[in-house]
Amino acid sequence: MTISTKHEEILQETAALVENVTDWKTTLSAVCAVLRKNIPYYNWVGYYFANFETQTLHLTAFDGPPVEHQVIPFGKGICGQVAISNENFVVPDVNAQDNYLACSVHVKSEIVIPLFMEGKNIGQIDIDSNTIDPFTPADEQLLETINAQVATIIPTDYLN
Ligand code: SME
Repeated sequence: MTISTKHEEILQETAALVENVTDWKTTLSAVCAVLRKNIPYYNWVGYYFANFETQTLHLTAFDGPPVEHQVIPFGKGICGQVAISNENFVVPDVNAQDNYLACSVHVKSEIVIPLFMEGKNIGQIDIDSNTIDPFTPADEQLLETINAQVATIIPTDYLN
């Protein structure tokens, strides 16, 4: 798949961010903001990270309206399922999902892409959209590449 010019520009912007880190969580929020600013159907963009001891995901950085789900148990909702499956989860229509945690009545679709560090699924990027069925394989490719960039700035404590 050829990468679009728009996605190339985004990746250049996020690459520059991860190369200049003072505080990694601030950088992560900035990465979320770049995505949300550039892609009209990305209405909320956030990163959750796993605590393997408590088997929960924790909202660590985001851009968009505040959300209720700061902590999500493994297995619950789309995010919690990805913590277990280690696979991308694209949801064209959230209303068709049984195991889904609603954040806003406006959200119609969602994409969650796991973030791997040294081969371990330690977290994920989660994007909510107010558009129905907007995500394509190009979104998955973009977000996988961004997660690989972001993995370089996450403290290794997150492997535990
Ligand atoms: N909808 C998610 C919960 C997180 S919010 O989208 C920010 C889920 O079902 O896991």
